[in-house]
Amino acid sequence: MSCKTDTVSDAGGATRCGPHHVAIIMDGNGRWAQSRGRPRLFGHHAGARRVREVVECCPELGVKYLTIFAFSTENWKRTQVEVAGLMSLFRRYISKEMKALAARNVRVRFIGDRVRLDAKLVKLMDQLEEETQENDGTHLTIALNYGGRDEVARATKRLAQDVAAGKLDPEKVDQETLPRYLDTHVLPDPDLVIRTSGEARISNFLLWQSAYAEYEFIDTLWPDFTSEEMGRLCRSYGSRDRRFGGVKT
Ligand code: IPE
Ligand code: IPE
Ligand code: MG
Repeated sequence: MSCKTDTVSDAGGATRCGPHHVAIIMDGNGRWAQSRGRPRLFGHHAGARRVREVVECCPELGVKYLTIFAFSTENWKRTQVEVAGLMSLFRRYISKEMKALAARNVRVRFIGDRVRLDAKLVKLMDQLEEETQENDGTHLTIALNYGGRDEVARATKRLAQDVAAGKLDPEKVDQETLPRYLDTHVLPDPDLVIRTSGEARISNFLLWQSAYAEYEFIDTLWPDFTSEEMGRLCRSYGSRDRRFGGVKT
């Protein structure tokens, strides 16, 4: 079988084309905690602990790029307690996982607007990116203070600045131009976008990049998501017929 991307074996051992880039909207932490009578932050901590297993199963599944949605530009609307708790969790997560990610040949990048994030967190993000920049295993991208519309607006601003500075000819602007200004400019488009927790919406995630992605909306709450479920979704992706507007011959 010839695959443009990587392959993944199903239960019977047959080989199928798996997704090269999986993006995940990790949703449901709050409900997971509330159903246990615990505060929402308890769910965020449980959710953060799930990330390692999912990152680690990527090589076996042929997933070269994994992008995870950790905090959206809209999540600032939450209570100060929840937002502060999440920011402190991100700092802890980065410090705690730095060694393991580096040792597992994971290359980490962050997307989103860093301007509103506190200096200590931004320093840790820079450090993690730097520590892992030579790695060529799984490319893990963490979307933090990320919003698709915000990203397109920031990209458009830089594009306009290049036009004003005479570096870019407006006549030459086409659909290949804008992605070069997006936070994701070094990443391929996602093949498969997974959202946990039963919500069937994309909540401002990778708007431009997901134009032709396949979607999986699953009921599992993020703290219950496992590598087995990830494997099942990657195998199911392999049986989909992506036509990109064409006709299968
Ligand atoms: C996703 O879980 C994590 C973040 C958005 C930071 P939620 O906190 O949205 O959990 P629910 O959707 O309220 O259950
Ligand atoms: C999307 O989840 C953002 C992240 C998972 C980080 P939300 O819980 O914020 O999305 P809505 O509010 O249900 O659309
Ligand atoms: Mg939610």
